[in-house]
Amino acid sequence: MKNYRLLILSALALFPILAPARVIESLDAGWRFTKSDAAGAGTNLSYAVARPWLLPTANPFTTNAPVRHPQGNFGEGIAFAQPGFDDSGWRLLNLPHDFGVEAPFDQALDGATGKLPWWGVAWYRKHLDIPAADASQKIYLDVDGAMSYAEVWLNGKFVGGWPYGYASWRVDLTPFVKFGGENVVAIRLDNPPDSSRWYPGGGIYRNVWLVKTAPVHVAHWGVYVTTPEVSTDAATVKIQARVDNDAGAEAGVSVKNEIYELGADGSKGKSVAAITVDGLKIAGRQSQANTGQIVFKNPKMWSLENPQRYVVVTSVLQDGKAVDTYETPFGIRTIEFTADNGFLLNGKRVPINGVCDHSDLGPLGTVVNTRALERQIEILKEFGCNAIRTSHNAPAPELLDLCDKMGMLVMDESFDCWQGRKRQNDYSRLFNDWHERDWRAELRRDRNHPSIILWSIGNELKELRSPEKFWIPAELTRIAHEEDPTRPTTAACNKVQAGYNGFQNNVDVFGYNYKPLEYGKLHTAKPQLALFGSETASCISSRGEYFFPVSTNQADGLGNFQMSSYDLYAPAWATTPDMEFKGQEQNPFVAGEFVWTGFDYLGEPTPYNNDMSNLLNFSDPAEKAAMQKQMNALGKIQVPSRSSYFGIVDLDGFKKDRFYLYQAHWRPNFPMAHILPHWNWPERVGQVTPVHVYTSGDEAELFLNGQSLGRKKKGQFEYRLRWDNVVYQPGTLKVVAYKNGKMWATDEVKTTGPAAELTLQPDREKIAADGKGLSFVTVTVADAQGLLVPRSKNHLKFVIEGPGEIVAVDNGDAASLEPFPAKEHNAFNGLALVIVRATQPGEITLEAHADGLKSATTRITAQ
Ligand code: GAL
Repeated sequence: MKNYRLLILSALALFPILAPARVIESLDAGWRFTKSDAAGAGTNLSYAVARPWLLPTANPFTTNAPVRHPQGNFGEGIAFAQPGFDDSGWRLLNLPHDFGVEAPFDQALDGATGKLPWWGVAWYRKHLDIPAADASQKIYLDVDGAMSYAEVWLNGKFVGGWPYGYASWRVDLTPFVKFGGENVVAIRLDNPPDSSRWYPGGGIYRNVWLVKTAPVHVAHWGVYVTTPEVSTDAATVKIQARVDNDAGAEAGVSVKNEIYELGADGSKGKSVAAITVDGLKIAGRQSQANTGQIVFKNPKMWSLENPQRYVVVTSVLQDGKAVDTYETPFGIRTIEFTADNGFLLNGKRVPINGVCDHSDLGPLGTVVNTRALERQIEILKEFGCNAIRTSHNAPAPELLDLCDKMGMLVMDESFDCWQGRKRQNDYSRLFNDWHERDWRAELRRDRNHPSIILWSIGNELKELRSPEKFWIPAELTRIAHEEDPTRPTTAACNKVQAGYNGFQNNVDVFGYNYKPLEYGKLHTAKPQLALFGSETASCISSRGEYFFPVSTNQADGLGNFQMSSYDLYAPAWATTPDMEFKGQEQNPFVAGEFVWTGFDYLGEPTPYNNDMSNLLNFSDPAEKAAMQKQMNALGKIQVPSRSSYFGIVDLDGFKKDRFYLYQAHWRPNFPMAHILPHWNWPERVGQVTPVHVYTSGDEAELFLNGQSLGRKKKGQFEYRLRWDNVVYQPGTLKVVAYKNGKMWATDEVKTTGPAAELTLQPDREKIAADGKGLSFVTVTVADAQGLLVPRSKNHLKFVIEGPGEIVAVDNGDAASLEPFPAKEHNAFNGLALVIVRATQPGEITLEAHADGLKSATTRITAQ
C-alpha cells in the first residue's frame, strides 16, 4: 500500500514535466465482440425512434460539447454494459471491424445491400487501464464511425452515443473513469434492417481513439484555418482556435499558433510563421474562441500536381507552460465555381474529372484501411480522375488526409435522404432530430482539408420538387456557411425542375445527376448559375465479358448475370460515358462531372438488383418487350448478384475496358491505346466481332494478323474508334494510334493458348507489420507464353506461410457468392485477388495452385 502511494505520488510529481500535453492513443486493439443482445437491452432501444435520450438538453453546438445523456444513468440494468460482466467467452478482435463482410453471402438476402447480413444488434467491450497519473486529465472516446445507433457505457454508466453510422463523434468518459484501475467501455450498436440502398457494413468499422487532455484544452475539432487572402507572393492565414475550460475556476491562457511546412510523409518541415494571442480569460466550464492572423511570404500553393500542405500547431499556454497542443494540417489554395468558366483552382480552370464512390473497400467490406484507400486513389489517378464525391455520406477521415496528400479534389456529401424516405428505416427517421448535429459535425471535422471544394447537402432528395420543403436546403446551406463560409454548397439533383423551381436558389453551385442534355437549357435560363454534373453515366459492365451482336446484347440473356463490356449500356435514367463527354464538351461552362462510379461496390447490382424485372429498366422498347416475354415464361428468378456493375474498375480494383475510355479522354497528353474485346473466340470464327479502340490519339489503324482493317479518325464528339465489321479469326489484333498525324501509341491483343500457369504479382513486396499494412496480390491465369487467358475461371487454392494471413480473396465477379475470407476462389476472366496482411515482422510466402496449371509463389517482407 505504501509503495503504491509512493508510486502515485512520484507519478504526480513527475506529471507536469513528463506528461505530454495531449495523448491520442489508438483504441483499436483487443475488443470483445458478440452479435447477440443482453436481456433487457432491447426494450427501449428500438431504431423506430430517433434516440431522443441521446439528445442533450442544451444545444451542444454553442460549445461543441460531447453528447451526454441528461440523466447519466440510462441503461444501468443492462448486463452487457456492466463492468463485472464476464465477456471472456466473447470473440476477441481488433477494430476496425465489419461483421457483415465476414459472414458468407446468402443468395436469399437483398442484392441491393450486398447479400450480406450487416444489420442487427452487436456489442463491443474493451477493458482498459487508465493510470492514476491521469487523474487530473479529461478522458474522451473518439469514434470515427460505428454502424449504427451507437450507445456507450463506461463502467456501467451511460455516457452517450450517436445514431448516424457515417458520423464521427466523441463522448466524454471523464466522470466515470476509474483512475488507477481497470475500466470497461461497452458499446451497443443496433443497425436497422432496410436502412440503406447499398452495403453499409455493420460494426465499429472505423478507428477508435482515446484522447487525454488537460482540463483546459483545444475543443473537439476546435481549430479552423482559413486563408482569406492568397497570392504567390503572400498568404494571410486566419486561425480560429476554440479553447474549452473544463475546470471549475477561470483560466488565464495564451494561445500560440505556429505554422510549419508538412511533408507528404506527415513530417514537419520548415517553420514559417507564428503568432500568440495573449491575455485570454476563460470562465470555469466555458468555452471561448480566439482568432490569430498571420501573413507569410512566398507560400507554396496546394495544387493537384504539388499538393503542398502546412500544419498549424496550436498550443494552449498557462503560466507560460503548454498544457495542450493540437495539430491542424491545411493547405493554401483558392477555389471558385463560375457560371461561365467552370471550376478554378488557384485561378486556373481545372475540369472536374471525378468519380462517385461508396465507402466499402470491396472484399474488405467497410473496414477502413489507409493502404486500401491509398491504392484506390492511385488507381483513380492512373486514369486521370482528379476528384472524388463521397457518395452519399461523410467519408472516413483517412480518405480526406490521403486526398490532401495525394492531390485529389473532394465533394464531401452528407445525406442520401432528408425527411422523404427511400428505405423504411433510413436517415429520414433521424433527420428532424439529428440533421443539424450530423451536418455540423461533418463540417467541423472536415473544413480544414484543402482537397474539399464542395459541401453536398444531399443526394436525389425526395424534396426536390416540393417548394414547401425548401426550408431544408436553405437551412443546410445556412449551417454550412456558418461553419465554413469559404466553400460553396451543392446538392445532387436528379429532377430537371430543381434547376428552375426555386430549389436552385438554396445551393451555391447546381449539380445535375444524369442530365447532359439539360446543361445548355439551364445555362440559358439561369446564366448566373454555376453548374456541374454531380452524378453521371452509370454505365454498367463486367470485366472481360462481351456479348453479341454488340448493338443489342448488353447481357447474355437470362442466367448469365454479367453485362457486356463494350461500355454502351446504361439504365434508363443514365447515359453512356460518351454521351456525358459530349454534354460536357458542348457546354464548356459546366465545371465537370462525377461518374457513377469509380469502383464497383457491394450492393446495388443493377440491373440484377432483386429479380429479373430490373432488366425492364432499360429504355429500348424492343428489348424491354423481349425481356418481358422471357420473364413471363420463366417467372421471376432469384439472382446471385451481390455487387455493382457501375465501376470504371471492378470490386478488386482490376481495370475494366472503361478505365481506358476515361484515361483516353481525361489524360489527352498521355500516349495510350486500348483494344477491346479479347481475342479468344473459337466459337466465332468467321463471324462479325466488332473491335473498339480507346485512345488519347485522334486516329488509328487496326490490323488483324498483319492485314490492315482500315484507318479511322475520331469525329467531333466521338470518343472511341469502331471497326464494327471485323470478321473473327484467331491471331493478333494490333492498333497503331496517331495524334496530329504522328505515331502516338500502340496496343496488341493476341489469341492465347490454353491456360498453363499461374502468376502472382504483389502490389507491395514490403509491408508494415502493424496489422494494417496490406499487400494486394494479383493472381493471373496465363498460357505458356505468360499471356492472361481471358475467359479462364479456374479454381485456385492458396497457401500462406510465415507471419501473415489472407484477409480476403475475390475475383471481381459481381455474381460470385464465394466468401471473401477464404483460402480458395475461382478466377474470373483470368484474374483473382488475394489480400495479405502481416501479423508480425518476417517473411511471408504465398503460393497459388490450380489443377493442371503450374503453381506460383511470391514473397512479401513484413517489417
Ligand atoms: C443514382 C443514385 C445512386 C445510384 C445510382 C445508380 O440515381 O444517386 O446512389 O443509385 O443512381 O445508377
